[in-house]
Amino acid sequence: ERIDGDGLVALPGLVDLHTHLREPGREDAETVATGSRAAALGGYTAVCAMANTDPVADTAGVVEQVWRLGREAGLVDVRPVGAVTVGLAGERLAELGAMADSAAAVRIFSDDGHCVSDPRLMRRALEYVKAFDGVIAQHAEEPRLTVGALMHEGETSARLGLTGWPAVAEEAIIARDALLAGHVGARLHICHVSTAGSVDIIRWAKQRGVRITAEVTPHHLLLTDVRAESYDPVFKVNPPLRTDADVLALREALKDGTIDAVATDHAPHATEDKECEWAYARPGMLGLETALSIVLEVGGLTWDEVAERMSRTPARIAGLADHGVDPAPGAPANLTLVDPAARWQVDPGALASRSRNTPFAGMTLPGRVVATFLNGEPTVLDGKVMK
Ligand code: DOR
Ligand code: ZN
Ligand code: ZN
Repeated sequence: ERIDGDGLVALPGLVDLHTHLREPGREDAETVATGSRAAALGGYTAVCAMANTDPVADTAGVVEQVWRLGREAGLVDVRPVGAVTVGLAGERLAELGAMADSAAAVRIFSDDGHCVSDPRLMRRALEYVKAFDGVIAQHAEEPRLTVGALMHEGETSARLGLTGWPAVAEEAIIARDALLAGHVGARLHICHVSTAGSVDIIRWAKQRGVRITAEVTPHHLLLTDVRAESYDPVFKVNPPLRTDADVLALREALKDGTIDAVATDHAPHATEDKECEWAYARPGMLGLETALSIVLEVGGLTWDEVAERMSRTPARIAGLADHGVDPAPGAPANLTLVDPAARWQVDPGALASRSRNTPFAGMTLPGRVVATFLNGEPTVLDGKVMK
């Protein structure tokens, strides 16, 4: 079969460093299979499945289960992320070595959903992963500074009378762990960077030779905290939407490479967890099916930079050298074909994700994924999933 690529842009298959798939535990919100469909439609060929499932992915057993489910779905390369600590208590290191040695071959370990506050524990985690060139992907939250936080702490939170999540709660922990990573000589990755101050710290750490990388989400590149004024919980997310000045700093940092990658933080939530009062709603937004279009809507990147920030660099951070985003001639490719001229309207009911919590509902966005290829085989053709 031949595909007419006239007018289309070919990108290496997109790689998401930060995807919540909710299996095991909350299959009503997303499964590995439904999340894989969403990923393929979004142009992704690999996703790193976050560890805050139920049970938490803190053993070889759970990461192998997620890895196996990914293979069965067969639409994207699902790479489980391991939890840094056991369960949600965060007081003891999980079996990092066992997860690394498992069939899932875990290389990324994260405290997303179960923050590591104790610097001794973070130091030991960094020392541990250094041994097999793993990386700690840090959720960038000092939880003792975010107790009760419902949105960004600033003018809008003061006006609305909502408890805020201050920028310093993110920046303090990034600074601490950047210093620790430098001391240990291990790799540290910063999840969902959301403030201008965080960008400054990461830039400083890189200049000092710290092995630090960082990601930004599509929603933090486009939306600001004034969205909370609607009290629509679809805009509630951790870290929260920030200010115009933060958004501009994030865009500049993504352009100059201080921020290495775009990652979705795709966070599906069941209707009852979102269609409630703001204070009770779970934080998080869908991302996989809109990420590329939002990056194009934000603008400012060349196509080659889009390929770097959304495929090649995240693949390198995740240790996916075998993913083959730049295959040798004749080798099966992971590839995404995009129609740059197409525009489409986001309809939550038409998404492949099992959840509906997209903050971009109703927006008309540029760029449509026409086809996605995993190991040379189409997973999406004419904008439709093959399975
Ligand atoms: O908004 C968020 N939701 N941020 C996170 O870090 C976790 C995620 C989730 O699991 O829903
Ligand atoms: Zn997080
Ligand atoms: Zn997350």
